[in-house]
Amino acid sequence: MSKRIAVVGSNMVDLITYVARMPERGETVEAPRFEMGCGGKGANQAIAAAKLGAEVLMVTKVGDDPFADTTIRNFQDHSIDTRHVERVPGTSSGVAPIFVEPSGENSILIIKGANAALSPADVDRAADDLKRCSLITLQLEVPLETVYHTIAFGAEHGVETLLNPAPACAELDVERIRKVTFLVPNETELAILSGMPVDTDAAVEAAARSLLAKGLRTVIVTMGGRGALLVTAEGATRINPVRVTPVDTTGAGDAFIGSFAHFYTETRNLTLALNKAVRYAADSITRPGTQKSYATAKEFEAFCKAVDGAAQ
Ligand code: RIB
Repeated sequence: MSKRIAVVGSNMVDLITYVARMPERGETVEAPRFEMGCGGKGANQAIAAAKLGAEVLMVTKVGDDPFADTTIRNFQDHSIDTRHVERVPGTSSGVAPIFVEPSGENSILIIKGANAALSPADVDRAADDLKRCSLITLQLEVPLETVYHTIAFGAEHGVETLLNPAPACAELDVERIRKVTFLVPNETELAILSGMPVDTDAAVEAAARSLLAKGLRTVIVTMGGRGALLVTAEGATRINPVRVTPVDTTGAGDAFIGSFAHFYTETRNLTLALNKAVRYAADSITRPGTQKSYATAKEFEAFCKAVDGAAQ
């Protein structure tokens, strides 16, 4: 079976400002540091998987500006297949101004730019290549119609799909994502999708179960420093966290998903892949930046040895 992963999704250029504190409205404050890097939830997931050694196909749109070249070069530097990365004339690339506080927490603005032009027709144009993949990951920084179309495409052609419903979107129609193989929300996204509270672990599980009742098969809730929860018709499994000191949490959810995609397609073992993904995301928050905080396979092996050794 193919182990190739496809990402049908977004790319952005991240403009990251490390702040001592966020300004009040109308106030100007000086920030100590700025960094620019490649980001976007789709691209981040692709890069995480590629850094671990996965073969990745990217279906995305870039704009008509120097950021487009940076993004395409970045994919190519990571051996990602860019045959379905298209330029949109007269449009900006996706851009994300990001503010990271000393606690490592972030606030993100996104300007979708060319990502807003990724259409179902683009997915159809990539169909022959997508059919040869074993998993397609999706997020919500591209039009919802494209997300629904790709899930239907996956179901029709026997290609598993994973939807990360981020950023949270109240308009997402649960009925039209029922056929997705894996739904991977964080707690906020789960609350919006289910319309239920998520203030305790029991509430999180109940909210995930309510989505199973609507026809979803596998819900994986990412819970930051509390690990993750896998909920299927067979039951709920808690994936324990790994304790680290956060430096920058930007892109940790994408690190989780990209690494899960890789470990799952490699092993077909769900809980093993989730345990590794929790570790991969934890490792990523110990370094600043988005994609540049993602470990290679070798670096990740060293991190696992260190944390698992310390836990024994
Ligand atoms: O999930 C983190 C990402 O969200 C950033 O890279 C930013 O580009 C936004 O898409």
